[in-house]
Amino acid sequence: MPFPYKTVLLVGATSGIGLALAERLIENGVFVIGVGRRKERLDEFVAKHGPSKAAVSQFDITKLDEIQKWSKDITTAHPTIDAVILNSGIQRTLDFTNPEAIDVSRTLQELHTNYTSYLLLTTYLLPHLKTIAPQPAALVAVTSGLAIVPLPRCGNYCATKAALHSLLWSMRAQFAHDPSWSHLRVIEILPPAVQTELHSQQRELVAIGEGNIGIPLAQFTDEAWAGLLRGDDEVPVGIVAETLHVAEKPRREQFEGMVRRTMTRK
Ligand SMILES: NC(=O)c1ccc[n+]([C@@H]2O[C@H](COP(=O)([O-])OP(=O)(O)OC[C@H]3O[C@@H](n4cnc5c(N)ncnc54)[C@H](OP(=O)(O)O)[C@@H]3O)[C@@H](O)[C@H]2O)c1
Repeated sequence: MPFPYKTVLLVGATSGIGLALAERLIENGVFVIGVGRRKERLDEFVAKHGPSKAAVSQFDITKLDEIQKWSKDITTAHPTIDAVILNSGIQRTLDFTNPEAIDVSRTLQELHTNYTSYLLLTTYLLPHLKTIAPQPAALVAVTSGLAIVPLPRCGNYCATKAALHSLLWSMRAQFAHDPSWSHLRVIEILPPAVQTELHSQQRELVAIGEGNIGIPLAQFTDEAWAGLLRGDDEVPVGIVAETLHVAEKPRREQFEGMVRRTMTRK
């Protein structure tokens, strides 16, 4: 199945998974609006692909009180946006055995980058995605295998991803019960460890020789793209596919029961 969306707003497009997905989209004829904080990377992206294939917006998604205006501005500037990929994320080590050393502002920045901003971006971008019905639209979020099984070294990171994973289940159920949203798909990409700046820019990981952990980015991109083309609601990559199946099956059954008991179609 070809990728059904033509104009993608991709938040977190300046490196790693986001940049690789942006380039894969462009190779497949999709116009991409890339978002991130690093202006030189954004400029390079447009210079490489040209304004007929790419545009950019420099924005820091942790500026929570600016998200509503930014969402309005970006969808006004690009009214053909039919898919949003929320991919930005940071990971920090957090050690509760040494609480005096915890940098609370750094921990909150991780929470706001990985979760609070997603909550607000979703809230303020959905009205635009509603207007394009009956044309198909998608909201895609990148979580992690660590949303399912946490890694104690970075517990707050895992909790932000678990929160987002849970939120996506509820959103999907709500849209499934409201015919005015039948054109919208909610898609989750769950990467395993992938070789990106997420690790190579973490001083704690580099110090212990783990700055380059994970599968190669090209392998991740091929598998994630195949899942997106299949039209899966959840796209677990690599070992996360097994984790998701084994760990989530009973939970998913419980959730489906909860939905049946508590939700009615509008
Ligand atoms: N690599 C892995 O092993 C792995 C595994 C599971 C899940 N993931 C998830 O995959 C996603 C992409 O990560 P990656 O591995 O590709 O890491 P990455 O190379 O460090 O990319 C992170 C992206 O997020 C953007 N970003 C971070 N903070 C931002 C902010 N405040 N405002 C706007 N953009 C911001 C960065 O852009 P700027 O710095 O230019 O702002 C960059 O484009 C993340 O959600 C991550 O949690 C990664």
